[in-house]
Amino acid sequence: MPFGPQQPTPISHAADRQRTIYVAGASGIKPIIPISETELQSQAKQALSRKAYDYIAGGAGKEHTVSHNQSAFRQWHILPRMLRDVSQRDTSLELFGRKMHSPFLTAPIGVLELAHKEGDLAVAKATSSLGVPMIFSSQASYPMESCSALMGNAPRWFQLYWSKSDELVKSLVQRAENCGCEAIVITLDTTLLGWRERDLNLAYLPFLEGKGIAQYVSDPVFQQLMAEPDLAAPEKRKVTATTLQTAFKLMNRYPGSFVGNLRSGKPLRAVRKFIDIYSRPSLNWQDIPKIRAFTKLPILLKGILHPDDAKKALEIGIDGIIVSNHGGRQIDGAVSTIEMLPEICQAVQGKIPVLLDSGVRTGADVFKALALGASAVCLGRPYAYALAIAGEAGVREYLLNMMADFELTMGLAGCKSLSEIGRACLRPEHPF
Ligand code: GLV
Repeated sequence: MPFGPQQPTPISHAADRQRTIYVAGASGIKPIIPISETELQSQAKQALSRKAYDYIAGGAGKEHTVSHNQSAFRQWHILPRMLRDVSQRDTSLELFGRKMHSPFLTAPIGVLELAHKEGDLAVAKATSSLGVPMIFSSQASYPMESCSALMGNAPRWFQLYWSKSDELVKSLVQRAENCGCEAIVITLDTTLLGWRERDLNLAYLPFLEGKGIAQYVSDPVFQQLMAEPDLAAPEKRKVTATTLQTAFKLMNRYPGSFVGNLRSGKPLRAVRKFIDIYSRPSLNWQDIPKIRAFTKLPILLKGILHPDDAKKALEIGIDGIIVSNHGGRQIDGAVSTIEMLPEICQAVQGKIPVLLDSGVRTGADVFKALALGASAVCLGRPYAYALAIAGEAGVREYLLNMMADFELTMGLAGCKSLSEIGRACLRPEHPF
């Protein structure tokens, strides 16, 4: 099936991928991005400014959740089976009626322009060329319409932060539906911004430079909200050279001419309005069903960690769950997602798809998540690092590597398809 605007390059098998890399190496050509995630991260660190790198790599507090997300995968070990003829391997699945080549999507990541000037556009091109569903972020650097225009029929979803304004929520969701998104993911865990030491140390929040607010400033309802009188009196602050620099960046970034923006003061009003309304700390279980009046698309809740919340999601008729702790960016010392996955799947009883993100770094991690009941996983920071190193081509290479790694792990574990991956494929580090 054609995914992108042009026929996508066929996805080769894992063995072809390995061969391509080794043969190029024999001619002295190295992969354009490192294969290992640790090297990927350290090269991205070299490529980025400190502020950009810390915003992407950072997590809440001492970042124990960030590291726990990954180490918790090591609490499970794959138990391979032999002599099962794995010459034909099928990593495909169907999710919400859409056939996918591999069990992963790209997680929504805000402010991707920090990684690369093409940001979300580069990710849209890379994912659509491979048919990997992209989840657009509410805090994207480019409007969803600009990304969709590059994606043909390729799959995409939209991640929503539930704003203080229901009208804005409605508008964002309807725009997503109009630009071909196939599901809405409501993030539940960011009604307040976590205590992120790295960003606080640098006193840096990209939104104040007008970065990561493209979905808002392109929205007609947001524009109307901006026109409302601002009741909170602006804080009196000393104007320094840095204040002027920040204002300059903001005027430059905002749609329209620099002089026009300076005259209208719109960019500053947009940032203030965004900060004021992008999330709703009072969000509760009664709010969520309202979304059904705005869209017919499947609704997923992202940020579920407790099995009782998973049961509540079922009770209110939600279509899917993403087990997530926001890549450790919200609460320090939180449970990891992989440790909660079995209980959540138990609570859900296979009635709706359960996806997982936070800490997925290798094909083996994907395999373990599927063995513990996930239908698919969302890949996060590593693709932002690949984007930082090599733009669209970097993201594409990263996804191809993940596809190959997963396919080989699955075959070597003795499974020919996702339906053969189950709890019997794993042993816990400490048997219960
Ligand atoms: C926003 O979603 C963030 O995690 O920075």
